Amino acid sequence: MQLYTRSAGEGLPVVLLHAFPLSSAMWLAQREGLAEVCKVITPDLRGFGGSVLGEDEPSLDVMADDVARLLDREGVDRAVVGGLSMGGYVTMALCRRHPDRLLGVILADTKASADPEEARSGRERIADDVLREGTSVLVEKVLPGLLGRTTLERRAMVSGRVRGLVQAAPPVAAAWAQRAMAARPDSFDTLRALDAPVLVIVGEEDEITPIAVADAMAEAAPDGRLAVIEKAGHLSAIEQPEAFNRAVSAFVAELGGGSPRR
Ligand code: MLT
Repeated sequence: MQLYTRSAGEGLPVVLLHAFPLSSAMWLAQREGLAEVCKVITPDLRGFGGSVLGEDEPSLDVMADDVARLLDREGVDRAVVGGLSMGGYVTMALCRRHPDRLLGVILADTKASADPEEARSGRERIADDVLREGTSVLVEKVLPGLLGRTTLERRAMVSGRVRGLVQAAPPVAAAWAQRAMAARPDSFDTLRALDAPVLVIVGEEDEITPIAVADAMAEAAPDGRLAVIEKAGHLSAIEQPEAFNRAVSAFVAELGGGSPRR
C-alpha cells in the first residue's frame, strides 16, 4: 500500500495524519505555514483522497504500518508524527508498533481511551448507513460535531470547505475507518511508555474531545505539554491554523528544528 502524499518544506520531517472523514487536503494551511520551519509530510490515509483502500480488514494498526512504510519510502529514519482525531488514533497505533521511528508526537483533538460499547455500536450503524445511503449520512451525523461555535457562527467559508471535504469521502473508506476506530484499544499505557516528547493540542470549543480529555493525555506522557487553541472546535488545525502552526513550530524548535514562527 503506497499512500498518496503531499509534502512541503525542508528540514525536520513532520508527518501529519488527517481526521475522519477528511484527507490530506485538511492540512493545506500547515503545508503553507510550516514549510519554513520543517518538512511537512501529509499522506492520505488508506481509502481517502488519492490513496486506495486495499483488501485488509479494518484496523488502525494497518494504517500505522502504512505510515511506517511511507517513512521508509521517504528515506526518513525518525520523524515527528502527529495526527488530528482519527489521525491521532493512528499516531498512537504507530507509537505502539514503531516507537523507534519517533522524534516527537503530536496529538490534536483526539483521545487515548477506547470506545465504550455504545459508541462502538454507533460506529457500526454509521458504517452500515454510509454504505447504503452514501456520504449524506456523514454530513448529517458527523459534520455537526466537527466545528466549534465560533467557526459555525462567524466563518461560513471554513464551514463550507469542511462540508465539501466530508462530502468527498468515499463511502467504503468511511465505513472501513469507522470499523477500524471501533476496534482500537485504550492507549494510555502506550503514552505512559513513550520516551519521545509529546505535544497535545486541543481547540477550546472541541466538544468531541474536550480539554479535560487532552489534558489527561498530556499528563500521561512522561514528557507531555498541552496547547489550547482559542476559538477553535474539533478541527483546530483548519479553524485556527495560525495558532495551531505556532504551537507546532514551537515544538519543532524544542526538538532542534527551524526557528519558531511569531
Ligand atoms: C475525527 O475527527 O477523526 C473523528 O471525530 C474521530 C472519531 O470518530 O472518533
